[in-house]
This record gives sequence, C-alpha cells and structure tokens, in this order.
Amino acid sequence: MNTFVFQSPTKVCFGENSAATAFDVVKDFGGSRPLLLTDKFLVDNNLIDSIIDGLKDGGLTEPFVFCDVPSDSDVDCVNSASNYAKENGCDSIIAVGGGSVMDTAKATNICLSLGGDLLDYQGLNIIEERLRPLVAIPTTAGTGSEVSFVAMIKDRVEHRKLVFGSRFLAPDAAILDPVLLVSLPPKLTAATGLDALTHCLEALVASVTNSAVSDALALEAARLIFDYLPRATKNGEDIEARGQTLVASTMAGIAFSNSGVGIVHALAHATGARFQTHHGITNAVYLPHGMRFNIAYSSEIYGKVARALGFSKSLDDNEASEALVAAVEQLLEEVGLPNTLRAIGVPEMKDAELDEWVTLVTEDPAIIFNPREATAEDIIAIYKRAY
Ligand SMILES: NC(=O)c1ccc[n+]([C@@H]2O[C@H](COP(=O)([O-])OP(=O)(O)OC[C@H]3O[C@@H](n4cnc5c(N)ncnc54)[C@H](O)[C@@H]3O)[C@@H](O)[C@H]2O)c1
Ligand SMILES: [Fe+2]
Repeated sequence: MNTFVFQSPTKVCFGENSAATAFDVVKDFGGSRPLLLTDKFLVDNNLIDSIIDGLKDGGLTEPFVFCDVPSDSDVDCVNSASNYAKENGCDSIIAVGGGSVMDTAKATNICLSLGGDLLDYQGLNIIEERLRPLVAIPTTAGTGSEVSFVAMIKDRVEHRKLVFGSRFLAPDAAILDPVLLVSLPPKLTAATGLDALTHCLEALVASVTNSAVSDALALEAARLIFDYLPRATKNGEDIEARGQTLVASTMAGIAFSNSGVGIVHALAHATGARFQTHHGITNAVYLPHGMRFNIAYSSEIYGKVARALGFSKSLDDNEASEALVAAVEQLLEEVGLPNTLRAIGVPEMKDAELDEWVTLVTEDPAIIFNPREATAEDIIAIYKRAY
C-alpha cells in the first residue's frame, strides 16, 4: 500500500448569499483591512455589492477594490495589485472571481506577505511560511483554486504559465455562494465544469500520491458533475445545480491538491500558454484522448469508476474504461462543448513549433503525476488525435 499524507487546511462555508459574510470570515483569520480583489465584470454587474456592504457595515467606509484582473492573469497584474494593497496598508485579501482572480490573489498574497520579486517564489514548496489571511469566493465552478495549493500566473514574455505551489498558498477559507454563478454563461459553465471533472479523473489515477481519502472526494465530485452540470448549463438560474457543481469543484480541488493531476493538464497548460485557449475548454478537448492514453495503465481504476457511476456493468476493466470515456464524450456533447483543438482556435503546429510545444508539455509539473510516462512521440500523437 502507498503511504500518504492528506491535508486540506481551508475552511469551507457553503450557502445561498453567504458571500455577504466575507468580512466576518476574514476577521476570524486576523484580517482587518482586506484588499477586495475581483474582476470588472463582477463589479459592473453588481455581484460584489453584498461584500462591499459587509465591509462598510464593518467600519471600512471606503473598501480597497482592485478589479483590473484579466482572464489568465499575468505577472504585471500581480505586481499592480500588490502595489495597490501595500499603498493602502491592506493586511489580508478577499478574492471574488474565477480561477484567474483567485490565482492572482494567491500570487498577490506572496508579494504582500513576503516582499521581493514574485518570480523568486515560483516552483514547488519554495514558500515555507504562513501568508496573510486570504478568503476565496469562486464565481466559476471549475478550478478548485479556492482550496488548492497552487497558483498559475502567465509570463507573457516567455508565453508560459508560471507555477507556484505550496500548502501555504491554500486560502484560509472558501465561501461557496451559488447565487454568484447565476450570471455565468452556458459555455463557461460547461468549460469550467469540465475542468473540475478533469481534476477528478486525473486525481483518481494519479500515480504515487493518491489515497482513499482523496479518491472518495474525486469520485463523489465526478458523480455530482455528471448529474448536475447539464442542468447548470441549460438553466443558469437552477440554484440547486449551481450549488452542487460548486461543491463538486471544491471537492475536486481538494482531491487534486493531494493527488496531483496528469497529462491532460500538462497538454492544456502548454496549449493555453501558447494559444490563449481557455483552461477548461482545452482540458475538455484533451480529456478523452488523455484517458485513452492511460487506459493501459489505469483500467482497473477507470473500470471501478465506470461501475460506481453506473456507466457500465461489465467486469472487464477495459470495456468499463471505454464506457467511462464514452460517458465523458457524451457529456461534452450534452453541454455543447467542442471536441477538437481546431474548433477551439488552435492553429496546426508543425516541426520546430511542435517541438517547442512538446518541451512545454514535458516540463509541465502536472505530467509528473500521470500514471503512464509519455514520450515526445506519444504527446504528438495525442495532439494529432485531438486536432
Ligand atoms: N489554482 C488552481 O488550482 C487552478 C486550477 C485550474 C485552473 N487554474 C487557472 O484558473 C484560470 C481559469 O479560471 P476560470 O476557468 O475560473 O476562468 P476565469 O477566471 O479566467 O474567468 C473566465 C471568464 O469568466 C468571467 N466570469 C467569472 N465568473 C463569472 C460569473 N459568475 N458570471 C459571468 N462571468 C464570469 C470572467 O470575468 C472571465 O471573463 C486559468 O488561469 C487556470 O490556469 C487554476
Ligand atoms: Fe484545471
């Protein structure tokens, strides 16, 4: 049996309109002058009003709001946000948004707490001390960043995503408020849901680091996504479906933080960094291909998952694994997501460009946890199949 360590330091609070409690929650962890980090869409559509009211009611008459966060945020944005926080004497952060905002908040917290150059902290386990209080409020149900130990920040000069990984990056609290997701359009609902499903299916087969504790979370999260994502995509106002997919993405976030992800994420990170495709949509395209690549090494687990989720009754693991991949493909179709790289705007790569991209894939930390080692030829073959 594997030895394992499982940890999940984040307090999780769930409830309709629970975002309004953000100031109280950050105070519980010692914050008194939080930076409110969010994006422009959420400000313009009054989605953070209840949080601002909470800050004002608590005595912060002019809350410190930084909302200039682009999708796939970058190093410049983190530097601007941390300068703004330092100039205003902020001692903590409330992040409200999708993965881009939450990852920006984690990286901003590094600069705010430790000072110096953000780039000096990239890599795994470089940060070894507690940071300032951070409360994360996700407005997409996908990345799991509200509980994860990582932040991905774009380096626009080098066209790559920088990875920051440390248990001290996990937010102190996550507030899950399904009401904030009502405005999320169907395509983003589907894409972010597939990101969460990829976290589940990669964590379950991840080599070395996985455990029964993490597997239980990943399996139940996958069940919730298969059951509720079509509903949340068809009717954004279905609060039950929004809530269930939100809880699922948080559970999947805890699972992959402990077990790791795999080749699908490595392919998606490299493709997203190069061609600006959305993380969830890119995972969705690669997921069936990554799973088929892994079947030879992971059929026992895929088979169990397929039977547990009711996609197959077969005791033949290979047959059951194929049924699980087919269920993923059917889900993609049901929620209206494209299933080729061409359809999501990735140009055809050849020769030197392809070689450079393969290097990005093989150097991505996510690939370390994949159950099957992938050669450059394997990666190119998956790319061609997904194209
Ligand atoms: N840290 C982690 O553990 C982790 C895991 C997976 C992905 N990521 C990162 O997360 C990022 C992707 O995050 P994402 O998929 O949540 O998308 P996102 O944060 O980039 O947001 C995508 C778009 O959705 C909009 N949006 C967000 N919430 C909305 C709402 N409620 N209503 C309407 N529009 C809304 C945003 O304004 C933005 O335009 C990538 O940078 C990826 O690398 C991080
Ligand atoms: Fe992801």
